[in-house]
Amino acid sequence: MRAAITCVAGYVPDDLLTNADLTEMVDTNDEWIKSRTGISQRHILKDPLKATSDMGAEAVKTLCEKRGIDPSEIDIIITATVTPDMMFPSTSNLIAQKVGATKAWGFDLSAACSGFMFALTTGTQFIQNGTYKKVVVVGADKMSSIVDYTDRTTCILFGDGAGAVLLEPSEDEENGIIDHIHYCDGEGASFLRQEGGGSLNPASHETVDKKMHFLFQDGKPVFKAAVTGMADVSYEIMERNGLTGDDVAWLVPHQANLRIIDATQRRMGVDREKVMINIQDYGNTTAATIPLCLRDWENQLKKGDNLILAAFGGGFTWGSIYLKWAYDTDS
Ligand code: UT7
Repeated sequence: MRAAITCVAGYVPDDLLTNADLTEMVDTNDEWIKSRTGISQRHILKDPLKATSDMGAEAVKTLCEKRGIDPSEIDIIITATVTPDMMFPSTSNLIAQKVGATKAWGFDLSAACSGFMFALTTGTQFIQNGTYKKVVVVGADKMSSIVDYTDRTTCILFGDGAGAVLLEPSEDEENGIIDHIHYCDGEGASFLRQEGGGSLNPASHETVDKKMHFLFQDGKPVFKAAVTGMADVSYEIMERNGLTGDDVAWLVPHQANLRIIDATQRRMGVDREKVMINIQDYGNTTAATIPLCLRDWENQLKKGDNLILAAFGGGFTWGSIYLKWAYDTDS
């Protein structure tokens, strides 16, 4: 049985952090940020009493309303995030409670910017093997909670947001999630990480003083690995499924840097107008970028469209998913 995405939803907070705002905070400028990354603004969750689960819950509530289902019908919630509300209970646990998914169980999955992709593949298994009929996959991150707003090399990149999709058994044999290729390589661990707060470096005065609870990135090696990793894996999945650039209706890339997206699009031989790009509005929302793209482009997607999803992120982790879109929005 094939799993199909049957509904998408997303949530971004109202408050904006623009490039102009950042020039007041660190030594940067609009031209540098736009030309090096493609980003103009990010949405930031400013309410100190709200966290990743609140954004995820908003996305899941909208998802249920759009699909016309009661949250109690959800079998499982899988949340990809690197900014869980707390170490435990899991963000999925908290989302389930906030939306009233009283019969669901769930867990979090940590794969940084590839998190939504890994979670989508994990959720797919429960449909394919006939275990469940309603699987919710969430990608949500409150990146502002781990960004150092005195570090100009990272604070310009990230934003907050959440996206969610509903997976159900496909109505036909044709459409739905067809193939995935995922990789991880711990050789990349040192280039993009948040060291503090885990079992290796439990919170202490020292971890705070050394800023170990903030995200750290050595941008250049990550950029280099991302450009080849995301492009190669996208080409690999096309080749394995006999697809040319012309066969692909949409490339749905993780939104980390416009130059990485452009390199992937060129390697795949896909026309640029078939690439979902919203990095200018949201920045890098980590696990939320891909479901937010699906939400923003949902009205343009047609049943049977070939979509290639692609991501690269901390770990390193990377991968690609090939799916045939399963519904027309007006159906
Ligand atoms: O989503 C997870 C995966 N993450 C990624 O895929 C991100 C990958 N990395 C990148 O996207 C890029 O490396 C960055 C956007 C982070 C940086 O772009 P870059 O073209 O690699 O710049 P750079 O680090 O080589 O810095 C070039 C110059 C440096 O100055 P010098 O040494 O040439 O004098 C930096 O100090 O730009 C300087 N710089 C800035 N200038 C103005 C760094 N950050 C800024 C800034 N504003 N915000």
